[in-house]
Order: sequence, then structure tokens, then C-alpha cells
Amino acid sequence: MTSMTSDRTVRHERFEFIRRMPKAELHVHLEGSIRAPTLLELAARRNVELPARDVAGIERWLTFRDFDHFLEIYLTISRCLRDPEDFQLATAAFLEERARENILYTEAHLTISTHVANGANGDEIAEALAETVAAGEKDLGVRLRWIADIVRNVDFGRADQTLEWALDHLDKYVVGLGLSGKESHPAQPFREHFAVAETEGLHRTVHAGEQSGAAAIWDALEHCGAERIGHGIRAVEDPKLLDVLRERKIPLELSPTSNVRLGLVPSLEEHPLRRLHDAGIPWSLNSDDPALFHTSLTQEFEAVGDLMSMDLRELAGLSMTALEHAFLEDSERTSLQRVFRTWFANQGVDGFPDGR
Ligand code: ADE
Ligand code: ZN
Repeated sequence: MTSMTSDRTVRHERFEFIRRMPKAELHVHLEGSIRAPTLLELAARRNVELPARDVAGIERWLTFRDFDHFLEIYLTISRCLRDPEDFQLATAAFLEERARENILYTEAHLTISTHVANGANGDEIAEALAETVAAGEKDLGVRLRWIADIVRNVDFGRADQTLEWALDHLDKYVVGLGLSGKESHPAQPFREHFAVAETEGLHRTVHAGEQSGAAAIWDALEHCGAERIGHGIRAVEDPKLLDVLRERKIPLELSPTSNVRLGLVPSLEEHPLRRLHDAGIPWSLNSDDPALFHTSLTQEFEAVGDLMSMDLRELAGLSMTALEHAFLEDSERTSLQRVFRTWFANQGVDGFPDGR
């Protein structure tokens, strides 16, 4: 076999394995996961004028000049969700896609305060979403949990609303409080929200070190008690921070395609992922806003698997790391870990670097 043929065989085997293996995703936004056909249906229901009327046109629309342009499009998409049935349609399509990709566990961000500002009823949405999540678990075998996202750069009162919504619906699959939006707005003002979240049993993850430097990550740790960092790629600029992340086992939720499509990293090849990995930082792989970035968790695994020439054992380890850092109760984590481990063992893959 020539080396080119053997490269092709290895790659084929890797892709096949990725497609079929059990996966978990910790950083994906519901609003950024609505594929073009569903978005067109929702826009028609809500009478929202989108700049395109067909799938190809919508996909062309989703090209971002910069982060502000991305947020503008994100808000337009959010206007297509208002009634409980809209959220159910988007979530059901999302869960079906999860099932097709064998993503058995997902934590999805939801920016509830944007929807309430657009006229939605937060309690009705929570109720409707819980129904759809329960059906997904029963009919498709995929689990979904919610992270209610505070947006840094909007009216401060919306942060109170977000926390309140999350606390009111702890029994409806809400597991965490998140912080997203423009990092030019510091995390410090949300200190109290995250302190209450911690006391009341909500987990905490903060987007930081994506658009801004390492200081934003220090901020997230100090002021929000972040258990995980969304993106965190600029940690590479600060050796002291790398030591702290490694020692405290604070994982980064990496989304390489998102970083490239938003122009924060010039190319996948130049992404600091390998440097973060070599520094011993735990990390999971994520799609962030798969519909907006024309990606999927499977495609992220394929791209990174190629980039880092990962073998099956390393791929399995990456899947297990996500589970290790999921906002799950221990009993549920153990039972999912058993399912994953059994699947890998049946493929002859074990002894993987489990939960770095
Ligand atoms: N909201 C949705 N995606 C985001 C991202 N990548 N960064 C910050 N806020 C977001
Ligand atoms: Zn995100």
C-alpha cells in the first residue's frame, strides 16, 4: 500500500468512527442551531422579513464581516422565535439532528431574555421546552439540558430576568447560567448573579478569551466562579493562566470553526488548539452556532481529527472529556460514561485518556 493510500484508509476509518461514536456537546446555542429550512418556516409564521427566501440565499446571508455583524444576524434569527410552538419546532429539529449524529448528551445555551423582550412568555417557553426535551429523551434517546445565557452588552435588567428564569425552572432541565455577548463589556457587574447561581445549585460557564485577551478569562474565574470557559483561546497568551487552568482542571469549550468564521483566528491550521492541548488544559470540542457557521459537531471532530492526526483512542478520549466536565449529577454521569465506554470497548478502543 502506498503511503497516500494508507493515509486515505486511516482518514476513512477515522471519519467512519467519528460518525458512529457516541458524542457529547457542552457549548452550542439553540438560536444558532436553526438550519435554513426550519428558519424559513419560523420566519413565515412570525412574519419576519429575512433577506432571502430560499435555503441557498439564507446560507449566503450567513457570512459575517465581524462580531457585530454576527450579533445583528443572531438577533434577526431570535425574532423568528416567539410562541411556545416555535421553540418546540426549533428544539425538535435540533434533537433529531443530535440523534442522527449520535450526540447523546447536549448542553445548549438559550438567550431567554432576548425572547422575553420580543414578547415571549418565559414560563410557557420553559414548559414547552421541557415537553420537547422529555420526548427527545424517550423517543430518540438523546438528552438535552439548558444553560440560560446572560448577554454582557444589553440592558442590565435582563441579567436579573435570566437568573430568575433559570432558578424558576431548575426542574425543567435548566442546569446552568452562562455569559455571552461582547467581551468589551466586563464580567464584574454580573458577579452577584453568578454568586446566587452558585448558592442555588446552578452551574456556571462564561464565554471569555474569545474576542478579548487573557484578562477576560481571569475575570470570568474571579468574578463569576466559572467552572468552564467558553472558547478561552486567548489563554495561550498568558503562561500563568495556563498553569491555573491546568491545576484547577478548568476546561475550555473549544469551537474552532466558529473562531475562524468570526475572523478571530486566521485559519484552522493557525488555531491555538494544539498549544492549549500541549499545555495540558482539558478541552472539549463544540460547534457553538452550527447553522450559522455551516458546521456540525461531527464536522468539528473530522477537522480536528485530521489537524491533530488523532487516532481512535484519542477521539474516544475527547468524547469522554466532554462527559467528565458536563453539568450532570454524578449518578447520571456515571451511567452515560458506562454507555460510552461500552461502545468504545466493543470497537476495541479502551485505555483512552479519560477526563483530563
Ligand atoms: N452568542 C452566540 N455565539 C456567541 C459567541 N461565539 N460568542 C459570544 N456570544 C455568542
Ligand atoms: Zn457560544
